[in-house]
Amino acid sequence: MLIPTFLAALSETTTSAQALSSQLTQINDFGPNPRNVSMYIYVPKSLAAKPPILVVPHWCHGTAQAAFNGRPYAAMSDTYGFISIWPDSPNKADYCWDVSSKQSLTHEGGGDAFGIVSMVRWALKEYKGDPDRVFVTGTSSGAMMTNVLIGSYPDVFAAGSAEAGVPFGCFAGEGYGVWSDACATGKIIKNGTEWAKMVFDAYPEYKGFRPKMQVFHGTKDEVLYPQNLKEEIKQWTTVLGLNSTPTSTTPDTPLKGWTRYKYGTKFEAYEAAGVGHNIPNQADVVMEWFDLRCTTGNCYSRTRN
Ligand SMILES: *[C@@H]1O[C@H](CO)[C@@H](O)[C@H](O)[C@H]1NC(C)=O
Ligand SMILES: *[C@@H]1O[C@H](CO)[C@@H](O)[C@H](O)[C@H]1NC(C)=O
Repeated sequence: MLIPTFLAALSETTTSAQALSSQLTQINDFGPNPRNVSMYIYVPKSLAAKPPILVVPHWCHGTAQAAFNGRPYAAMSDTYGFISIWPDSPNKADYCWDVSSKQSLTHEGGGDAFGIVSMVRWALKEYKGDPDRVFVTGTSSGAMMTNVLIGSYPDVFAAGSAEAGVPFGCFAGEGYGVWSDACATGKIIKNGTEWAKMVFDAYPEYKGFRPKMQVFHGTKDEVLYPQNLKEEIKQWTTVLGLNSTPTSTTPDTPLKGWTRYKYGTKFEAYEAAGVGHNIPNQADVVMEWFDLRCTTGNCYSRTRN
């Protein structure tokens, strides 16, 4: 049993991929897509009635296929019958998402965010999905895109989960491929009102339901400095109208050294002591947050929350 962790992880991935009921499939024409984002979808053989949809944007230098292989959501959807969408970045320079352009940071404004939302709308229609149970989760650039989608499209998503990301608007700049060193190194510091204003300005006329949000961050993150966790907390507690003091603090959750801070029922933050940018994915916690194991009755949704 002395298999190096690296090989063990590889063989685990291969086994689960072989065991899947269906396969990752590319869709070419799915609606408006000004940035030419590529769409991949996993539709399990046994689909729930009115299936929920989970969007999983990849990390920088990643691909739809890499995220699909590196996350267990397809195997989980074989059990619970939800659909997953795996967008692939059109940015061939570094495969990071457009989380900077005015287009992505504006509701129906264009950019990569709009292409991804088109995929959701296509899938909802094609598979008679549940428009009240659409979720997004990602790591690093995928976490930044999660923040962007939750901010620009509060009418589309029911909840988000971002691992090692930055707040909505923190990378804002000229163009689609901005890398903000200032944001990455934790030098963009705002108060909650200022952060929330960026989200509200993305869709000023919107007064409806706001998706709930979950964030994870390592205290030793050397790529997107841990200050970004503090900024995300200020942003989403303010957007959601929550007190910035946690309503509960739980040590060693879900792992030893990680602390969970809850702010009522609509926002929670996990601070992972000693963890760097490559934060271990907590798929079970994410599944729980989205209530994706729920297949009948009172599942969490935009209308039952
Ligand atoms: C869109 O992306 C695909 C896949 O990367 C590529 O083959 C195609 O040429 C692109 N189309 C345009 C108009 O850029
Ligand atoms: C947040 O910043 C704005 C603009 O800099 C300032 O006017 C406002 O008073 C600040 N709000 C709080 C609660 O500190």
